Amino acid sequence: MYDVIVIGGGPAGYVAAIKCSQLGLKTACLEEFSDKKGTPVFGGTCLNVGCIPSKALLESSHKYFEAQGRLANHGINIGKVELDLASMMQRKNEIVKQLTGGISGLLAANKVTPLSGRGKVLAGTKVEITKDDSSIEILESKNIIIASGSSPIEIKAAEFNEKNIVNSTGALNFKEVPKTLGVIGAGVIGLELGSVWARLGSKVTVIEAMDNFLFMADKEIAKESLKDFKKQGLDIKLGSKLISSENKKNSVKIQYEHSESIEEMEFEKLVVAVGRRPNTNNIFSEDSGIILDEKGFISVDDKCQTNTPNVWAIGDVVRGPMLAHKGSEEGMMVAEIIAGKYAEMNYNLVPSVIYTHPEIAWVGKNEEELKADKLEYKVGKFPFAASGRALAIDQSTGFVKILSDAKTDTILGVHVFGPSAAEIVQQALISMEFGASSQDIGLTIFSHPTVSEALHEAALSVNNQAIHIGNKRL
Ligand code: FAD
Ligand code: NAI
Repeated sequence: MYDVIVIGGGPAGYVAAIKCSQLGLKTACLEEFSDKKGTPVFGGTCLNVGCIPSKALLESSHKYFEAQGRLANHGINIGKVELDLASMMQRKNEIVKQLTGGISGLLAANKVTPLSGRGKVLAGTKVEITKDDSSIEILESKNIIIASGSSPIEIKAAEFNEKNIVNSTGALNFKEVPKTLGVIGAGVIGLELGSVWARLGSKVTVIEAMDNFLFMADKEIAKESLKDFKKQGLDIKLGSKLISSENKKNSVKIQYEHSESIEEMEFEKLVVAVGRRPNTNNIFSEDSGIILDEKGFISVDDKCQTNTPNVWAIGDVVRGPMLAHKGSEEGMMVAEIIAGKYAEMNYNLVPSVIYTHPEIAWVGKNEEELKADKLEYKVGKFPFAASGRALAIDQSTGFVKILSDAKTDTILGVHVFGPSAAEIVQQALISMEFGASSQDIGLTIFSHPTVSEALHEAALSVNNQAIHIGNKRL
């Protein structure tokens, strides 16, 4: 009998399992994805086909882009640059292998029992495991954590065929650079993977149903970044809804609706990135008592407890942003609670990052949300064009924006479009966890020259005290 069985070995599940074991609980982690030998491969979407391979390709493609011309700005001329896509892919695959192997090592070091097979929660905190050879085993556990993750949404208008209509996994594995690439959805995946292939030479068109670009981001950041993506060659068509596609021998023809007219385009490859859906199919029996919420996620409270005692659910399979760090943090919280400790998670401060170039990152509320909440706020901004370090590294696009409470000056949101945006937001986030005001950041010493100084100056600018810009609104 286990104390805990975790179903799913992604960043939510494997972190939960390690934490449970560290807290003295007898723990197993069950994963259905396995290698040719039938050994479970841990890491989930994030390590295998998500965060890590996409960031590897973003980095490689950016280096290729820089070598092709941008380095000339530094007085470095390197002549003809050639792309070796197979080596680029190989590097990415090796990073994935190293990291997924590393997780197996971590589970072993932490005495978590690895289990291979597909899990289903039965009544009475039992887990039914269907193995690769179709045999079935039933294990008992005092607690179960469901961390089965999510999968790409497939739409009728463009069904995946693994050839020329693919999801994000297919777009991480093209063997050749498509001459023309259509991307359905200007969300996080569309922008990141669209950027990768545009830098490698594809003519990329992104078809987005909504009129608002990046509706979840601060409007000003979204507007500024849209201008920059267009400059980078991404043809982003807003207010354009895919309605059908026609598979040809070596291409895909699509029809989309824009301003009440039907437009057509043809691409060598089409990536459909219109969101992800929780993996809830056949994950629990009806008599287990677990229920789904109105959006199809496993229904949980703010402690990730399902409505069945001792059954928990974390990560992409439950409400909230589908982000690796959100799932991992939920895993740690649940482990602590199962071990009898008090734990909670601050859902107000989950950071978001889009790893384009420049990056887009934010935490807390944006202006639109503050207005909707009828909260009075102050704004401080600082452009990277006025940062010495940003100019030195040839990355002076974008700005830092801080929103603070009009009366108390407590920081309510930080939004960055520019170099190291993710790291800058992370610094702000730490201060926000301690209830910082913009004045607190203004009174903090920042190393010079760093791009982080833009955070310092934006904080000073909230109260019209910035040094390196005029203090009128930008
Ligand atoms: P998953 O990582 O999906 O893991 C679930 C695991 O459970 C899988 O391994 C699956 O095989 C297994 N499983 C499912 N059902 C069963 C079952 N019945 N029995 C046994 N095993 C089962 N997030 C970020 O924070 N930063 C990023 O930069 C980022 N980039 C991304 C890029 C791409 C292209 C994609 C697709 C996603 C990206 N994400 C990113 C999102 C991130 O990958 C997910 O939020 C994260 O992986 C969710 O973790 P999870 O553990 O909940 O689920
Ligand atoms: P998304 O929700 O970010 O974006 C999907 C987009 O597709 C939306 O803008 C939507 O309006 C549009 N869309 C939907 N149907 C459409 C249609 N028929 N025609 C045209 N456009 C349509 O989803 P995405 O990009 O698939 O990513 C899924 C999730 O993966 C993200 O929500 C995020 O949580 C996670 N992720 C996180 C990353 C990060 O943290 N950097 C990177 C990649 C993914």
